[in-house]
Amino acid sequence: MKPTYYVTTPIFYVNGAPHIGHAYTMIAADVLARFKRLDGFDVFFLTGTDEHGQKVEKAASDAGMQPQAFTDQISASFADIARRMNVSNDAFIRTTEARHKAASSALWERLKAAGHIYLGGYEGWYAVRDEAFYDESELSTNAAGQKLAPTGAPVEFVTEPSYFFRMSAFQEQLVAHIEAHPAFIGPQARRNEVLGFLKQPLRDLSISRTSFSWGIKVPGDEAHVMYVWLDALTNYLTAIGYPDETAALWKYWPADLHLVGKDILRFHAVIWPAMLMAAGLALPKRVFAHGWFTVEGEKMSKSIGNVIDPRDLADTFGVDALRFFLMREITFGSDGDYSRASLVRRLNVELANDLGNLAQRTLSFIGKNAGAAMPSRGPIGAPEDAVLAGFIADLPGLVRDAIDRQAFHEALEVIWVAIRGGNAYIDQQAPWALRKTDSVRMEAVLALLVDLLRVVATLLQPFMPESMAKMLDQLGVPEAVRSIADLATPVAVGTAFPPPAGVFPRFVEDAA
Ligand code: MSP
Repeated sequence: MKPTYYVTTPIFYVNGAPHIGHAYTMIAADVLARFKRLDGFDVFFLTGTDEHGQKVEKAASDAGMQPQAFTDQISASFADIARRMNVSNDAFIRTTEARHKAASSALWERLKAAGHIYLGGYEGWYAVRDEAFYDESELSTNAAGQKLAPTGAPVEFVTEPSYFFRMSAFQEQLVAHIEAHPAFIGPQARRNEVLGFLKQPLRDLSISRTSFSWGIKVPGDEAHVMYVWLDALTNYLTAIGYPDETAALWKYWPADLHLVGKDILRFHAVIWPAMLMAAGLALPKRVFAHGWFTVEGEKMSKSIGNVIDPRDLADTFGVDALRFFLMREITFGSDGDYSRASLVRRLNVELANDLGNLAQRTLSFIGKNAGAAMPSRGPIGAPEDAVLAGFIADLPGLVRDAIDRQAFHEALEVIWVAIRGGNAYIDQQAPWALRKTDSVRMEAVLALLVDLLRVVATLLQPFMPESMAKMLDQLGVPEAVRSIADLATPVAVGTAFPPPAGVFPRFVEDAA
């Protein structure tokens, strides 16, 4: 039986149209899900939308719509983004679904029955934009006298009856868990941040609101709706059948990885594990926080008018070039920047030139001069052969190791070292000269290049599924044998190659 692998994206607030920041989280999770499938895992990959709470209620009323009609519309546009970005999610969850309301109520009852929920009153600060409570000591005041959260979101003072989750009771257990499981939170710097935060006493968490109604009703006390984060986090359980722990999909729990942005790490690395501990459920194996990126050096915002719809970029550059760029340009886990010029540069230099040319030079030469079929391999003679053979042998392990650490940029870097090595090899070995002097050696050189291209294209499938499918077609690799384990079986000598065609056209900006 294949080992299971459960990976999630955050569920997206439906208060506005999706943008490239949302696509970033989805694409990264998709690369992981696709890689794991290729590497023999039984994967469940979840994404979806977070539809309750004050922020969404307000966005709907600003749009002059009923919340449900509004969330139906925006949720559909997130599903559309996933499709257009070629994201291979196995399920798409919406928190307004009946099954999710049932799951959230069941979890609430379970926490309550275990004595971890009590009724009290909340008096303090709340930021609707962040859907988060803040302590007075965390706030600053702007020139207009408005109190602000550390994120810059305006806060309001709230006095309401509220149910509380006894989170304070789990502080020690949580710290012990994080310390005993070094891989539980990544990257390392973020893990230290969470441990730093946990040095302060953890307070009980207000988990219900009474001042608005767009949420899941608290079981047994319908004047309250659940705090949106409690409802939202539960989505990871709903999607695999909770509360039915005999459901077929339940085999995926605990999740292997919650991929999140740095802004929501604390919810996933403190509140969520505390809730699971209180409910007696297993904890996710890992939570990884990626950074945020700016657009041409500026924060994306509606007021600046620089919010990018990733569908426009995919239309212009191709979805694979966009996926590649986002995973290549920004060190995953750090902040970064999107700029059109660097996208075009990477597309032209790394895709069209480095990779596209290596494939094109090798395959069109074979088409013209080596019978348009897999050439005969030779002994690994020259030291240059050994370098290429080394790449072929080592790349799968190196890429796997980087991806398991969510170091996508590093996976691409090792692949590009091999691609550049391939281009240097073809220049040096000059098969066009060997054609006249030593056709056996010419074939051996070409065969090694094809073997390298096949490893490269196989490992790049998770990043650029469409273009790598085309490249593998051209390399004579049938669809059924494109997994990482299949790399152990070389393409048979004499396998016919279809006529090669460029996979990555260069992009030229309009002079106008
Ligand atoms: N609904 C919550 C998550 C609940 S998960 C149980 C939420 N939604 S969100 O729509 O605001 O954000 C979703 C994800 O998009 C977050 O991981 C966030 O970090 C990411 N990004 C939003 N803008 C981004 C950038 N500019 N750059 C990178 N990622 C960004 O939070």
